[in-house]
Amino acid sequence: MRLSFGSWLAVAAVATAGAAITLGSFERPPVTAVQRGFRGTAMELVYNERLLAVNAYLHQVPEAPEPADAGEPYARDTYQNVQVLGDLSVQQFGRLMQSMTEWVSPEVENPEPGAPQRGCNYCHNPENYAEDSVYTKVVARRMLQMTKHINEHWKSHVGEAGVTCYTCHRGNPVPLNVWAQPPANDGSRGRGFTADSARQNLASASVGLASLPYDIFTPYFQDAGDIRVNGSTPLAEGNRHTIKQAEWTYGLMMHFSQALNVNCTYCHNSRAFSDWSQSSPQRTNAWHGIRMVRDVNMSYINPLQPVFPASRLGPNGDPLKANCTTCHQGAYKPLYGAHMLQDHPELNLVQATPAPSEEARR
Ligand code: HEC
Ligand code: HEC
Ligand code: HEC
Ligand code: HEC
Repeated sequence: MRLSFGSWLAVAAVATAGAAITLGSFERPPVTAVQRGFRGTAMELVYNERLLAVNAYLHQVPEAPEPADAGEPYARDTYQNVQVLGDLSVQQFGRLMQSMTEWVSPEVENPEPGAPQRGCNYCHNPENYAEDSVYTKVVARRMLQMTKHINEHWKSHVGEAGVTCYTCHRGNPVPLNVWAQPPANDGSRGRGFTADSARQNLASASVGLASLPYDIFTPYFQDAGDIRVNGSTPLAEGNRHTIKQAEWTYGLMMHFSQALNVNCTYCHNSRAFSDWSQSSPQRTNAWHGIRMVRDVNMSYINPLQPVFPASRLGPNGDPLKANCTTCHQGAYKPLYGAHMLQDHPELNLVQATPAPSEEARR
């Protein structure tokens, strides 16, 4: 068959449009590939430096104030209502209040009319700093203990880098990356003939715009759902897992990749996803991370539910909780691995909370 010039033109036009659409969904080169696994395993990470530069501001550490002297006079002997910061010197206490303000509720220029007060008054009634009438102060007290708990009991994940309020908050009263349970029945329909979306098939941001189930956080970052696809025996009786569970597992893995801005081979050798002996050490780090996030959500954030005003709760009435993005924000390590805690020794003096239960560590 011979095509006329007109038809060639049409084919060319369609091909060009197709190429534009295809190329438009890819990143503009140049990209840098970093080999991580043994040669030949294709365990590589691909970075686009131009895109990294766009978000670089997110990963900068604010300058720490001058160090404060420890020792007497202690906060517990000076103030009226210190329940967790009694062991700080008065100087350290003041330094920490200042840092907390900068991390969580810094003053803003031209605040919107009616917006909550920023600065110290975000948490305090300026008439009486000792009273607990502002709910954010009650939340902040628990957050202080949570931060100490992470740094003390989850070194298996946060190492010596540790975390401060800034790791999650970055100058926002509510961290930018949080989640809550979706409404029990959101009524969303699937595509095509399906009457119910089954909470998937919707190109959801939480799973990298894949059609995977979008609420992967409730089963894994609140409940201790089993993250498993492969069976451990050759016959089916060794694997009671369904396709549905596989989809949830993959949804969670998409979240990991997005949160850290890495691909699957950062943690896995893709010839055998389940095999720990072929996985990178980072996979072990991530394993502890999953347990840490559950502990933070279940032991600290969910129990604060009655303290929050309704406007701060999710559609199901549960508080906004943490996931991997809350701290990582698109970096393989939050703040590119900066050891921010070491400039804030006050956070190590917060009165301790009990170690996580055996249950939480499993
Ligand atoms: C993010 C919340 C938050 C911000 C912002 C904040 N504080 Fe506090 N403040 C607290 C908490 C929580 C306590 C109680 C600590 C405890 O129970 O050990 C406290 C206690 C105090 C006390 C002790 C009062 C008493 O007698 O019991 C003083 C003084 C104080 N803060 C001053 C300040 C100043 C000054 C600022 C601003 C530079 C500030 N705070 C900003 C949360 C905050
Ligand atoms: C692991 C991450 C994480 C860390 C670390 C953290 N927070 Fe939070 N914080 C959260 C999340 C998530 C919320 C949102 C809860 C909600 O609104 O339901 C929150 C909420 C708050 C609120 C309530 C804000 C509002 O307007 O309702 C305050 C105040 C607060 N945090 C203070 C602190 C302080 C002070 C520290 C450090 C001592 C700290 N946080 C450390 C995750 C964190
Ligand atoms: C940051 C590290 C990390 C990244 C990135 C990551 N994973 Fe995982 N993956 C894990 C961990 C940890 C587990 C095991 C969780 C557990 O046992 O609680 C796991 C489990 C799995 C499993 C289940 C294996 C089994 O035993 O059945 C599959 C399949 C999987 N990942 C696929 C992927 C895919 C596909 C990607 C990329 C989209 C990916 N992972 C990205 C850390 C990671
Ligand atoms: C409370 C904040 C916080 C949360 C939430 C968090 N991480 Fe991390 N993560 C850290 C810190 C801090 C480090 C750096 C530790 C270090 O430098 O030793 C880290 C390091 C890691 C590393 C090691 C990176 C490397 O190259 O060595 C991996 C992998 C990782 N996190 C995965 C995860 C996953 C997956 C989740 C969600 C299940 C998660 N993290 C949630 C704070 C957090």
